Amino acid sequence: MGPQLPLLVVALAGCLLPVPGCIICEPSIAAGLKNLETDYLPDHLPPEAHKSLMKRVKDAVRDFKELPKDEETYMGAVDEPTLRKASWSFLMDLKRITDTEVKGELFVKELFWMLHLQKESFANYSAQFLNEFYCPNKCGLMLQTLIWCNNCEKEVHACRKSKDCGERQVEVQQMQDMILDCELNWHRASQGLTDYSFYRVWENKTETLVSKGKDPILAKPMVGPEDAGTYRCELGTVNNSPATIIHFHVKVLPRTIQEETMPLTITAPGVITTILHQAPNTDKMLKRHLIWLLISGIAVVTAGIATVIFFLRPRKDPES
Ligand SMILES: *[C@@H]1O[C@H](CO)[C@@H](O)[C@H](O)[C@H]1NC(C)=O
Ligand SMILES: *[C@@H]1O[C@H](CO)[C@@H](O)[C@H](O)[C@H]1NC(C)=O
Repeated sequence: MGPQLPLLVVALAGCLLPVPGCIICEPSIAAGLKNLETDYLPDHLPPEAHKSLMKRVKDAVRDFKELPKDEETYMGAVDEPTLRKASWSFLMDLKRITDTEVKGELFVKELFWMLHLQKESFANYSAQFLNEFYCPNKCGLMLQTLIWCNNCEKEVHACRKSKDCGERQVEVQQMQDMILDCELNWHRASQGLTDYSFYRVWENKTETLVSKGKDPILAKPMVGPEDAGTYRCELGTVNNSPATIIHFHVKVLPRTIQEETMPLTITAPGVITTILHQAPNTDKMLKRHLIWLLISGIAVVTAGIATVIFFLRPRKDPES
């Protein structure tokens, strides 16, 4: 089936109107069926059988929407990624059949068996959607586009959960980087999100905007005691109600604690034993320490050799 892709593109350009039935809401499915009719049937089925076959096929695909509705498996709507997955699976199965160049009665049999399995597979995708991808946010507001199977209409659905997404305790050592991460895993799947705003919340309850933008992380290098306190992040949405609010309580630990928790002992000249149990930031610090120790070590050894040479030479000179 070499010319399949160009034909698909031509069919898509032909602006096929979607007919209700969920996966048939996807233009690629309508295009795939059109392609089957114009490209495959002529060589594989008598002409008089084409019309009735195509009618039965379209009815069967439309019938995908007639799944038993229940709260666990199907609610009559799915999201766009689920629809794309189900459509892709359908088109792959169709291609698998046409690739074998099967003809006549056997072709019809295989085609309807495939449609039967694909309906089951669509039911599986739908169940997976309901269990994993339908309103996956545990807090805040997520906006999700749903496609209704009975009329192919798209609707932005608001998944509202408890407004507050909790509080985080953050401890950072003085002179280290403070990183406040406001991203939750469902943010990437949500629609209509605007900016992440980070505010400093003062004791007197007033707030100062620290940063605003697409970046879900507020990073401040080299923190000092004045950076300790409460911060609030708010992710906005197009409909004015925030998607997520998280509070961060930041504690800045003094440097002495850092040295206690990060022992650095020299057991023998040139052998440095370290115990690493710190974040990557402190790793960097540790590496700097090690480099300095190494440099000073080399300097001491070089100075020693120079001294030895210096004291050896003057004695030799008068004799020679
Ligand atoms: C649908 O899911 C059921 C149970 O998980 C599985 O046994 C079946 O093979 C799946 N059907 C298809 C067509 O993917
Ligand atoms: C609240 O406290 C902050 C920081 O101490 C200060 O800058 C601000 O002016 C105060 N606002 C009011 C209304 O008192």
